[in-house]
Amino acid sequence: MKKPYFNMLVVLGLTMLLLLPVTTTWAKDLSGDLEIFSWWAGDEGPALEALITLYKARHPNVNVINATVTGGSGVNAKAVLKTRMLGGEPPDSFQVHAGQELIGTWVKADRMEDLTFLFKAQGWDKAFPEGLVKLIGTDKGIWSVPVNIHRSNVCWYVPANLKKWGVSAPKSWDDFFAIAPKLKEKGVVPLALAQNWTANHLWESVALASMGPDNWDALWAGKLAFDSPAGVQAWELFGKVLEFTNDDASSLSWQQATDMVVDGRAAFNIMGDWAAGYLSTTKKLAPGSGFNWGASPGTDGMFIFLADSFGLPKGAPQRDNAIAWLALLGSREGSDAFNPLKGSISARTDSDLSKYNDYGKSAAADFGKDRIAGSLAHGVTANEGFMNDFAAIMEMFLKTKNAQATAKATQQIAVKNGIGK
Ligand code: GAL
Repeated sequence: MKKPYFNMLVVLGLTMLLLLPVTTTWAKDLSGDLEIFSWWAGDEGPALEALITLYKARHPNVNVINATVTGGSGVNAKAVLKTRMLGGEPPDSFQVHAGQELIGTWVKADRMEDLTFLFKAQGWDKAFPEGLVKLIGTDKGIWSVPVNIHRSNVCWYVPANLKKWGVSAPKSWDDFFAIAPKLKEKGVVPLALAQNWTANHLWESVALASMGPDNWDALWAGKLAFDSPAGVQAWELFGKVLEFTNDDASSLSWQQATDMVVDGRAAFNIMGDWAAGYLSTTKKLAPGSGFNWGASPGTDGMFIFLADSFGLPKGAPQRDNAIAWLALLGSREGSDAFNPLKGSISARTDSDLSKYNDYGKSAAADFGKDRIAGSLAHGVTANEGFMNDFAAIMEMFLKTKNAQATAKATQQIAVKNGIGK
């Protein structure tokens, strides 16, 4: 053998010998705890549990602590997280929405570690859509790992019930107002609603239908005032829609509002597609027959999106275990184990769609062609400061139904929380 080739082989062999123990013991050597913090408890849990099962297979010596605080959209979890973060007791990794909830809150407060090193090590530079990477990054780094894309503006119903009542799914709010009184006469709630945050959730679908996607984007860029005519009209339309919702909304969880549709007590519910996960994974209903869906009225061709992600807080007690967790979350394997159960689609561009049901396939197709808008209710467009103030404004509107005053108050909190700055 020629000498250069021989030398190359020796170098290669030595490198492999050196790397082998590193790569094989890396997985096995991890031990201690891993505390993951999220609001995916109970009915919301199966997808997360599938990921934890994968993690345990990769890292059998790590004790995973699945710390959850119940409450849809993280209403309770976020408050607990805040106390822990400010008290210097962060979990090893926590759920946070891509967008302003992450950047305008935790990154701004300098509480997160830059994950650029992990994106490089995992070769993730092309794994996620560019627009999404912008939402989890700043000029100083990349701050979380996205695990999914959820759609917010979806209207859910049970086809057999609509048939029984002689109505079809509304394409516009005018369609809805035409059928809603008929449903009411039959003793059916036209639109099921739950606690306060689901009103925010409904509001974003109604506002998008009312003002269109250009105005929606302009609102969050600080280029259109919340108390402009378009802003006021959105609240007016929202007020009309609320007339056809259930009176006990404030005491219900989002699952209970979905149950109203399943049980035939209500005709429709506008909820994110975690409802698809709940309907198929928990309720075992078949997409397309057991339950069906469409874009929320007036938003066909538009996709209000949000992405759940996990970050690495500064001072995470078990940093290495957390990094291994994040590596799994961002992997194709992890993503395609999690999302089919969750009702979301993968945040990765190379997802295996054969693993998804008909709902997931249709969401993936829509995400590829629709006009994308950011979700307010789930962290994309506004920071935590705005969200907290907006919850109070929503309470006020639910009581007063005064569109003009509410629009004005919304503009004030937008200025206060630096929207568009
Ligand atoms: C959203 C979250 C979803 C789902 C939902 C209901 O904010 O992004 O993954 O958990 O809340 O709790």
